[in-house]
Amino acid sequence: MKKYLVIGNPIEHSLSPLIHNFWIKKYGLTDIIYEKMKIEEKDLINIVNKIKNNEIAGANVTIPFKKKIISLLDGLDNSAKLTESVNTLVLINKKLIGFNTDEIGFLKTIENFSTEKKVSLSKFLNEKKILILGAGGVTPSIISAFNNNNVKIYLSNRTKDKANMLKQKFNHIEILDWEKKLPTCDIVINTTSVGLKENDNINLNFENYNNDQEKLFYDLIYNPKETNFLKEARLRGNKTINGKMMFLNQAAEAFKIWTNILPEIDNETIGLF
Ligand code: ATR
Repeated sequence: MKKYLVIGNPIEHSLSPLIHNFWIKKYGLTDIIYEKMKIEEKDLINIVNKIKNNEIAGANVTIPFKKKIISLLDGLDNSAKLTESVNTLVLINKKLIGFNTDEIGFLKTIENFSTEKKVSLSKFLNEKKILILGAGGVTPSIISAFNNNNVKIYLSNRTKDKANMLKQKFNHIEILDWEKKLPTCDIVINTTSVGLKENDNINLNFENYNNDQEKLFYDLIYNPKETNFLKEARLRGNKTINGKMMFLNQAAEAFKIWTNILPEIDNETIGLF
């Protein structure tokens, strides 16, 4: 039996086992199991050793260990290196390698959106203005996802120092003060944790976006399904996407790293939660 894990803390509500076990069954991989495990930081080294000893076949890493795990690894893929964020572990030629599939998971959802509009991703994004809100652990993955496209990226975070730190690595982005009124952009992405609680409100002024169907509001949060950030955008007449497809796509890319199968994200998968 090959065992895969998702490790994090908290982990109770992780949907990764649901998704991965669905694909394991769907593709008849009867020798694989996938479980969640709540761990403390001191346990990271044990997990690393167990993967190196083949006791565990691989793992997903979630909050708060995506950065902390890095110093224990033998290598990183390009995205993990650039974003300092690892969500997938696998042993390759006896070396424990950390991958970041959040970035491609995010980019694929934008690509699907452009496909619906019948244009290529690069054409869809060409000369677009992107406003990224937040400067937490996932934010570098979102910035990095746009790296090959001709976009202008603005970034604003309540704590400006954290935004400025991101600018040291991504010097093409422009940092803005966290103010009620920010410049009007084509895509506005919430990477903050505001919205995880039902009553959370980001308290920014988006009245410039009224009745504009071309504006896209994207919240990385998928539970609740519709944060106030997205609800207000929908009521203003903007397009909205929540974090569900990004979550599914990052899981699919991790599954592919482990099994060489890129699972289809069909309606049954989408309907799992
Ligand atoms: P992680 O690294 O795990 O993503 P984090 O570092 O706490 O978590 O990041 C959460 C993000 O949500 C940060 O950008 C945070 O802003 P600060 O850097 O100012 O803390 C943002 N955030 C959390 N609560 C917020 C609030 N009430 N208003 C605005 N931003 C908030």
